[in-house]
Amino acid sequence: MVKARQVVVLGTGGTIAGTGTDPQQAWRYQAAQLSVEQLVQAVPELAGVSLRCEQVAQVDSKDMAWPVWRNLAQALALELARDEVAGVVITHGTDTLEETAYLLHLLSDGAKPIVLTAAMRPATAPDADGPRNLRDAVKVALWASEQGRGGVVAVMASHVWSGAHVRKMHSHVIDAFDGGGALPLATLLPDGDVLALVEAWPDSGRLGWGCVQVPVPPRVEVVTSHADADGVMVRALWAAAPDLKGVVVACTGHGTINAPLERALQEMQQAGVTVWRSSRVARGGVQPREGDEFPAVEGVTAAQARVALVLHELGARLC
Ligand code: SIN
Repeated sequence: MVKARQVVVLGTGGTIAGTGTDPQQAWRYQAAQLSVEQLVQAVPELAGVSLRCEQVAQVDSKDMAWPVWRNLAQALALELARDEVAGVVITHGTDTLEETAYLLHLLSDGAKPIVLTAAMRPATAPDADGPRNLRDAVKVALWASEQGRGGVVAVMASHVWSGAHVRKMHSHVIDAFDGGGALPLATLLPDGDVLALVEAWPDSGRLGWGCVQVPVPPRVEVVTSHADADGVMVRALWAAAPDLKGVVVACTGHGTINAPLERALQEMQQAGVTVWRSSRVARGGVQPREGDEFPAVEGVTAAQARVALVLHELGARLC
């Protein structure tokens, strides 16, 4: 049996691969410019590590879309099946990292580590955070493999977050992610070594990579409940997209919905559209209660709940 030592780095773009022309104006840059090989070459500490790079996509993650997820799942299925591969690191944009992390968390069988990482500053910024995050992600992948821990995590700013809970909580500081109330799984030392395992490693969803191989996913949209919400958005959506299969509502508080919007959602549910409730509040989510008219998704964000509802609508028979 080969001892798995190789880490595969899959590049998808993001600010970590972003460049600008004026280092003094680091906020003026374009995401997704450098190749994943260039990102790895910029980290001297990775010189002695057995790495293989593959460019799966090159996108600003605001433009993340199903075909990229399909390619990513295909690459993961191939790479993780190789005996010599200890784990996979994915370089990603921060903006939709929580959606990709949650998708992969639901699909993964938890056998080997999958570590997402990103950066808040482009590679050309004088204080770029990408090289350190990438080094840390590779170290965490090797550490987790040695410990026999698989599944999806995200490494940012010296914290390891569960793929089930990670989310972007700040639009511009370096330490922009948290676990939506869950603690980091681990904290890293300045050299990237794991200081302490704080939380139990997460269980994976185990749906299987094949789930996302359909060419077009079921249409699931997110609507927000807010003051003056009168259901027009939902009715317009229904009229414009008769292929609509599901709606996630980003509810007020602990899962409440403005009454006129609620009536429009009831009509849609009666017509066969699945409606789930998440909360637009940063902490706590919506806990399910017996007799809920629209199921509640507990602690995940509306964007993550949308991912779960897409998979739900795809149906277990495909997975
Ligand atoms: C992106 O999400 O691709 C751009 C923003 C970032 O990575 O911080």
